[in-house]
Amino acid sequence: MLTLENVSKHYGHRQAALTDISFSVGKGELMFLTGASGAGKSTLLRLLYLEEKPSSGAITLGPFNLSTITKEQIPILRRHVGVIFQDFRLIPERTAAENVALALEVVGKGRREIRRKTDDALRLVGIWHKRNNYPHQLSGGEAQRVAVARAMVNDPLVILADEPTGNLDEQNSRDLLALLRDLNLSGATIIVATHQVGLAREFGRRILHLLSGTLQGESR
Ligand SMILES: Nc1ncnc2c1ncn2[C@@H]1O[C@H](COP(=O)(O)OP(=O)(O)OP(=O)(O)O)[C@@H](O)[C@H]1O
Ligand SMILES: [Mg+2]
Repeated sequence: MLTLENVSKHYGHRQAALTDISFSVGKGELMFLTGASGAGKSTLLRLLYLEEKPSSGAITLGPFNLSTITKEQIPILRRHVGVIFQDFRLIPERTAAENVALALEVVGKGRREIRRKTDDALRLVGIWHKRNNYPHQLSGGEAQRVAVARAMVNDPLVILADEPTGNLDEQNSRDLLALLRDLNLSGATIIVATHQVGLAREFGRRILHLLSGTLQGESR
C-alpha cells in the first residue's frame, strides 16, 4: 500500500533530515511514528503528501510512484491523501460543515453528494451539532475533529496526522487518537506522527522510532 525504499532527504547542504529509511505500511494499518524534536517525523510525512521530494530513494503509494510523478500530477495525487496538522488549519471564514465540504468541492463532487458525505463525516467524528460554527467558535478538540472529518471525507488512500494532539489537553488527545483508531477499525490506513510515545503505546499498534533521521526500529 505504502512503501519507502532507502529514502533520504537533505535540506540544502545541511545534515540529512532523513537517512536511508525503508518500511511498508499495509492497507488498513494504523501506525505511529515517534522520535524527539528534529528526528524527522514531519519531514517524512511531508514526503508522503508531496510537499517535499526525497533526495534519493523510492516511495510508492497505492498505484502511484511518488519519486517520479510530474508537477502536474501532484494535485491529483494529493486528493488521495488526507492530512491533519497540529494547528488544525481550518479556513476561518468557513463553518465546520463548509470546511469539510470544500474537500469535496475541489474534487468536483455534485451538490447532493457533498451534502450527504459532509453530514456523514461530521456525524462520524461527533461534531454534527456544531456544523454551523466557525472555527473560532470551536474548542481545540472540536476543531481537530472537523479536521479529521475533512481528511477522511474523500476516502483517501492514507490519512497522515502530524502531531494531531499537539495543541490538545490529555483527555482530548486520548479521545482524538481513539477517534483515529475507530476510523482505522472501519478500514482507514493512518499514520500518526507524535513525540508522545506513552500515548501511542496505549493503542497497542505498530510504532516506528526515528532518531536523528534514521529508523531505530519498531515496537508496539
Ligand atoms: N524546511 C527546512 N529547511 C531546512 N531544514 C529543515 C526544514 N525542515 C526541517 N528541517 C530540519 O530537518 C530536521 C528534521 O525536522 P522535522 O521537522 O522533520 O522534525 P520533527 O521530528 O518533525 O520534529 P518536531 O517534533 O519538533 O516537530 C531538523 O534538523 C530540522 O531542523
Ligand atoms: Mg514535526
